[in-house]
Amino acid sequence: MEQTLILLKPDAVQRGLVGAILGRLEQRGLKITALRLLQMDAALAGRHYEAHVDKPFYKGLVSFITAGPIVAAVLEGPNAVAVMRSTMGDTNAGKAAPGTIRGDFAVDIGRNLIHGSDAPDTAQREIALFFEPSQILSYARANDPWIVE
Ligand code: RTP
Ligand code: MG
Repeated sequence: MEQTLILLKPDAVQRGLVGAILGRLEQRGLKITALRLLQMDAALAGRHYEAHVDKPFYKGLVSFITAGPIVAAVLEGPNAVAVMRSTMGDTNAGKAAPGTIRGDFAVDIGRNLIHGSDAPDTAQREIALFFEPSQILSYARANDPWIVE
């Protein structure tokens, strides 16, 4: 089954939205297979956001993502990467559709609450930054057959 990495960014933790956001993802049917609270340091942020190192917003992004605790999780499901991206909504939260996480809880591109991997190969690279293989659990939920045919 496909895996994706999500990060509930420092704004989500500070605003007390961790439960609401994780609740939506559970309701969608995605399975949490790894979960941890941590504070990223500059080195980890640099590795996670290495694709953006030359972007004008990079410095502010690293400063923001390291500013407080985050929640990192691995989610599993059919097309988990694409399902998460559409559930998060547009990167620019001010343009995100209502019904999406960003569209319901955020208004700003730089305070958009959540990260989700943008492709299956990126997801594998990112998951390895946050989790040891032994921290990712494989388990069945009693209602799995009612979520995935
Ligand atoms: P993410 O990586 O956080 O899931 O978000 P994304 O794929 O939707 O957006 P991406 O292009 O990867 O950008 C990473 C994060 O950088 C911040 N950003 N700021 N000020 C700006 O123009 C700007 N552009 C991007 C956002 O917080 C975005 O989530
Ligand atoms: Mg991205």
